[in-house]
Amino acid sequence: MTTEPAFVAAIDQGTTSSRCIVFDRRGGIVSVAQREHRQIFPRPGWVEHDAEEIWANVVQVVEEALDLADLPRTRLAAVGITNQRETTLVWDRATGRPVHNAITWQDTRTDELVRELGGAVGQDRFRERCGLPLATYFSGPKLRWLLRTVPGLAERADRGEVLFGTMDSWLIWKLTGGLHITDVTNASRTMLMNLATLDWDDAILAEFGVPRAALPEIRPSSAVYGTATGVLDGVPVAAALGDQHAALFGQTAFSPGDIKSTYGTGSFLLLNTGESIVQSGHGLLTTVGYQIAGQRAVYALEGSIAVTGSLVQWFRDKLGLINSAAEIETLARTVADNGGCYIVPAFSGLFAPYWRSEARGVITGLTGYVDKGHLARAALEATAWQTREVMDAMRADTALDVGALRVDGGMTANNLLMQLLADTLDVPVTRPTVAETTCLGAAYAAGLAVGYWPDLDALRANWHKAAEWAPAIDPATRARGHRKWRKAVERSFDWTD
Ligand code: G3P
Repeated sequence: MTTEPAFVAAIDQGTTSSRCIVFDRRGGIVSVAQREHRQIFPRPGWVEHDAEEIWANVVQVVEEALDLADLPRTRLAAVGITNQRETTLVWDRATGRPVHNAITWQDTRTDELVRELGGAVGQDRFRERCGLPLATYFSGPKLRWLLRTVPGLAERADRGEVLFGTMDSWLIWKLTGGLHITDVTNASRTMLMNLATLDWDDAILAEFGVPRAALPEIRPSSAVYGTATGVLDGVPVAAALGDQHAALFGQTAFSPGDIKSTYGTGSFLLLNTGESIVQSGHGLLTTVGYQIAGQRAVYALEGSIAVTGSLVQWFRDKLGLINSAAEIETLARTVADNGGCYIVPAFSGLFAPYWRSEARGVITGLTGYVDKGHLARAALEATAWQTREVMDAMRADTALDVGALRVDGGMTANNLLMQLLADTLDVPVTRPTVAETTCLGAAYAAGLAVGYWPDLDALRANWHKAAEWAPAIDPATRARGHRKWRKAVERSFDWTD
């Protein structure tokens, strides 16, 4: 019996759950384990996670995935990490205990602080350096809030007694027994990294009041960082990427002009722009796509949509209109159209292309005719229209000619949604055979770092189309829907006293 390492594992620490998937050399899934964690809502607009609970779940899913595949950890050539981005944690260097719950990316508590940081210049004050507008979404404002709010924390950070990290840093620190690092993609979501130098930006750090002593070292996304102890004892920890960047990698979108869209809690379109840092004039983010050790970074333009899958969860958990997320499709298929109803799910303000933190959700066009089927359909259409707005912004920023949109993520199991996307975007939508592209991307990056896969071409050869949807509505219907959607969006703005 061979005992050579023959598999690669990926850990995906996501917004609602943590997963571990073991892959083989063809990118096929050998085993999957998943565990949800609590969403903590201390006040309206605040969303926290318990980082200790998340770590315990990660250990469990790793053990379960290895057990399911009947593999000892010695059969793993490497492990890669991918994670919900921006979610911000500070922990004590000596005890390893978090000083506060993690503040998640959807949390809007820094709304005021963000306005304050913008001053007279406004939300684009740091955009040229870090590629991002000032918004509650990113880690920097969350870290500033913690340093200001938790008694004594700022002084302890100055002395290097506490450490900041996004979830990749937290997991790598726990897995390796104390390495404090992050990768370029996660660092590019903090607002604190300079996109050109790929180092923390001293001018921004000064404005945010963040000492370097608290920050992790920034490393490439695909590189051997160290060796795991504990649950993965002896396995090289060889990749970290924010989940959307990992999905870009897993879709093998390695050439400039390649584009992917991932449908999870939120949805995120990333367009590979090669080695160029493209500044957006249309509400997109400039971000690092990935960096392979010893190579230059590959950049991307991103359109981030805060609420898509979580609107379906809201239908299930808060309205009780469906019992499972999959039922939204059945319900939406009970009607032929939206009955005139539009839902703008601005639960966390609106992200791309608007960046309006104060926006709040609206349902418009209600009449006595509208039933729950129309509402379900409007919920799915909201995902399609939000994708359309991001795609329009990408076209405006880059003269992009999209051949087809590569999609992945949990919501792509919804065939009605896939058809609505093709109709709304007016381009074909394709889904690969392995829809778990986020984990796959982290596994690919880790496998490349240890030589398990030789090069990007070997990864490209693993991509296969499983399904494709072609546009099937007339242009006039599409244009009318678009006008109504835009009106509905405007109604979600300025929802402050
Ligand atoms: O930027 C937030 C994003 O990384 C979260 O992704 O899939 O956990 O909703 P997901």
